[in-house]
Amino acid sequence: MEFKPFQEKGMPIEKQVKSWPEVNVQPYNKNEVDPYTRCRVILMNGIEVDAALFKHEFARHSADIDLNRQVAMTRKIEQEQQKMVNGLIPGDESVIENTIGYEQLAVDLTATLAKMESDPYVKKIFDFGLLEDFDHLYRYANLLETLEGKKAEKIVGKMTEIMPGRPTIAEHRNPFDDVRKPVDMKSDPASSLNICTLVAAEQQTMNYYMNVLNRPIDPVGRGLYQEIGMIEEQHVTQYESLCDPKPNWFERLVMHEYHEVWLYHSLVQQEPDPAIKKIWKMCLEMELGHLQKAGEIFRKYQKKDPEELLPEVLPAPLILESQMEYVRDILSTQVNLTANGTDLVPVDQLPKDHRYFAYQKMVNKKFIPSQEVIREHIGKFKKDYRFEALGAHPVGIYQKRDEAGLNAQTSIDV
Ligand SMILES: [Fe+2]
Ligand SMILES: [Fe+2]
Ligand SMILES: [Fe+2]
Ligand SMILES: [Fe+2]
Repeated sequence: MEFKPFQEKGMPIEKQVKSWPEVNVQPYNKNEVDPYTRCRVILMNGIEVDAALFKHEFARHSADIDLNRQVAMTRKIEQEQQKMVNGLIPGDESVIENTIGYEQLAVDLTATLAKMESDPYVKKIFDFGLLEDFDHLYRYANLLETLEGKKAEKIVGKMTEIMPGRPTIAEHRNPFDDVRKPVDMKSDPASSLNICTLVAAEQQTMNYYMNVLNRPIDPVGRGLYQEIGMIEEQHVTQYESLCDPKPNWFERLVMHEYHEVWLYHSLVQQEPDPAIKKIWKMCLEMELGHLQKAGEIFRKYQKKDPEELLPEVLPAPLILESQMEYVRDILSTQVNLTANGTDLVPVDQLPKDHRYFAYQKMVNKKFIPSQEVIREHIGKFKKDYRFEALGAHPVGIYQKRDEAGLNAQTSIDV
């Protein structure tokens, strides 16, 4: 069904401020929640964090008090939305359990967006990042069973496979190779919406890991959050460098609200939990109000119509769902890729003196948490933890689940 966001009035801003009990929502039940409801909550928390931080940056670049008041008003509402959405996560979900949700989201969101993406270069970059988060899911799942005795397949609802991706140890690169080529938003605005979604999700993952890395007592657990946190930093660099740098602050303000409308509108169409669906519906109405407000500001300061910036009809909805075949397909053809400048190449095609190898040597010394976590699991359970729903790993070298297998996997990629 066509949805024309600029024609919707939404909820007036004056009616959007909530009382504390309205913000303090009922969390989901971690044993009954649909895994993609958890993923949607994690995603929208990241989107709301991004909305609030963007509006802070906007205000820091403006000396216009009236404008800054308008921005402060909706920014505070974005903050209430963030509190409400993040409050859906229950207190009895451990940090590592929640982390499994973060990486399941990263895998299935990136795969979904890669399949929707019209720009072949952007799609290639999404697929590249996909295999890295896929590996993080495997490392954290091993940590979860080792430290808490829980199986990650229960958390992902058997919708996402758990096995080695591009090994985390091989993902560490010189930052010069993290920067990609920017798109031109005009060629396909939907592509820019896809990129914005991943930037916000990866930024939230980076922020989350950098804050919770001191929660585990176990040194391998602490190290794993540090090591993977550094890859999330790489991912933020990678995805943000795809963004069109040309839009000005006012154009970005409209884009941000339109982006939030697109996402909440997508969520309403797929949410099975009635209480959470009500929240998504309410947030959609709120975002339509924000879009109206951003449009007013745009008209006043830019003397142009905001409708010129983005499609009149919302692009196809983003639907989170199982992507096992797609992930396997990318895994079987691209696991050995690395970056050389803005391009992706098989690691064995890099010259021996490439900065990749120098960087690898600097960070990967003796204790490598992403390897140790698997070694510890093998020590305790005789083999690594996996959830292989569609059969053996599609790449032969990753099929062995003992210490010898672990060592062999490392040596081909580093
Ligand atoms: Fe928002
Ligand atoms: Fe990740
Ligand atoms: Fe990531
Ligand atoms: Fe908003």
